Amino acid sequence: MSIPAPPPLAPITGHRGAKGHAPENTIAGLRKAVALGARWIEFDVKLTADNELVLFHDDTLNRTTDGKGRVKRMTLLEIRKLDAGRWFSSDFTGEPVPTLAEAMDYLAANGIGANVEVKACPGRETETGAATAQALAGRWFGGPIPILISSFSADSLAAARHAAPQIPRGFLTLRFFRDWATRMRELECATFHVLDRRLTETRVRAVREAGYRVLAFTVNDPARARELLSWGVESIVTDYPDRISAVVR
Ligand code: G3P
Ligand code: MG
Repeated sequence: MSIPAPPPLAPITGHRGAKGHAPENTIAGLRKAVALGARWIEFDVKLTADNELVLFHDDTLNRTTDGKGRVKRMTLLEIRKLDAGRWFSSDFTGEPVPTLAEAMDYLAANGIGANVEVKACPGRETETGAATAQALAGRWFGGPIPILISSFSADSLAAARHAAPQIPRGFLTLRFFRDWATRMRELECATFHVLDRRLTETRVRAVREAGYRVLAFTVNDPARARELLSWGVESIVTDYPDRISAVVR
């Protein structure tokens, strides 16, 4: 099978929802990003101990909930009892950790593109990539919204490709590796998501000339966003969609 075509991206992608304005990886965060004009949203997905897919960034519950311990040791039922909003602000008290299904249903109902980052707990890279791709392929891919599976983990991307090769994949990186083209080719990725400060105009041009789309994360400075967009970066992943919208035509 050939590499799936990249989905139609938008200049702004809300990061973990709208991380600057609302608790990350919650439905309230997705709602905030939409209210601020984002047409694409990025969020992180992990497997619970009982193999349910939830939105979560860290390997432990400590920073973003009122619980403690490792996500991979907790069941969905245990995680659902936690408060994932109060740590951010009392305005969000009672906000739960959402399931992938809840997040996707919300985005599908609102016509918002889903950048689903597979953020596996250590040791669960393959199973998380496979489970995410299977879930997306079984219910949402091919439906009303564009979907992209992204990951820093080559194992997760390979597992996603194996489980659902038709869903476009994005390669996340904190460094601009010399062999970026080989890695992109091997994993049959359509999009390259690069840490903002690693990007130069020459690098963006090289990736685009190779036929890939470039996303930059995480950019909260409108002037830098304008520069990146002028180089051909296709989407700015930001905690503040409202700030970046000022420089998007
Ligand atoms: O998709 C870009 C960004 O989400 C990657 O970093 O740590 O925020 O998941 P992180
Ligand atoms: Mg992420």
